[in-house]
Amino acid sequence: MSSVFRANLLAGQHAIITGAGSGINKRIAERFAMQGARISIIGRNADKCAAAAAEIRALGGEADGFAADVREADALAAAFEAACERFGPVDICIAGAAGNFVAEAAAMSANAFRTVIDIDLIGTFNTFRAALPLLRTARANLLAVSAVQSSMPTAAQAHVCAAKAGIEMLVRTLSIEWAARGVRCNAIAPGPVADTEGMKRLAPGGDSSWTRLLAGIPMRRAAERDEIADLALFLCSGAASYINGTVVTIDGGQSNLGSQPFGDMLLDSLQSA
Ligand code: HXC
Repeated sequence: MSSVFRANLLAGQHAIITGAGSGINKRIAERFAMQGARISIIGRNADKCAAAAAEIRALGGEADGFAADVREADALAAAFEAACERFGPVDICIAGAAGNFVAEAAAMSANAFRTVIDIDLIGTFNTFRAALPLLRTARANLLAVSAVQSSMPTAAQAHVCAAKAGIEMLVRTLSIEWAARGVRCNAIAPGPVADTEGMKRLAPGGDSSWTRLLAGIPMRRAAERDEIADLALFLCSGAASYINGTVVTIDGGQSNLGSQPFGDMLLDSLQSA
């Protein structure tokens, strides 16, 4: 784990992160723990949450896992209550849980489309709604993990594009409604990130699909998980104290080139599957 940040930026703060059993959100959890935060990891899979929390404790941080599906508002609220009993009121809440698969809209059932809307969009609402009564409002931060598909219509990703666009409008609206409570609400929109479940799903074809994907990114590489974690850390720290209602894209310039290389690669991967 490397970081451009060296200070103890989050000393004593409690950060709850959904979907932090793996991938980007796990790296954010580790980064925040190393900056002094107490970490509650919430996810569907209790074993994954417990294992991720144990890894943080092994690094010298404070963390615990709490199992809940972000689609189930009551179970999620109960997990938030348990986390706050353990670590105190919430200073930071990150809605990171997400679902994805590659499919053309014509090959999707209503339930398939709804599943991703439920996990990503409704799940983000449920997460922030569960956090609200438990926030330490003098300095609370909400952060949603969106994706470039929110503003870059992408073939075989209609469900994700719709869900992520919804998340960003939710964040911008909450930034208006909840600012008077002392809450900042922002989102990050990553492009492809190396070594994540999402990219295993989106570029399963090995080297050839990666080569095509990277051709559509001006920097010709995917993000590292550490780079995403550093952006999340900046936005949830006092260094970003006047940033509210903003979506920060972190995609190596991919969205300036558009989605065609990415979408064509996804469509071809469906044909060769
Ligand atoms: C068409 C599909 C499908 C596919 C699932 N479905 N996969 N339809 N093509 N490839 C349909 C199913 O048939 C079903 O519809 C409906 O979706 C729900 O599927 P379930 O398997 O019952 O749902 P569930 O077990 O809740 O799993 C949710 C999931 C799954 C999203 C489908 O993939 C999952 O658990 N994902 C979590 C992990 C994940 O995706 N991580 C990556 C996130 S990355 P029917 O009609 O048959 O009932 C990310 C960032 C993207 O989001 C940005 C990167 C740049």
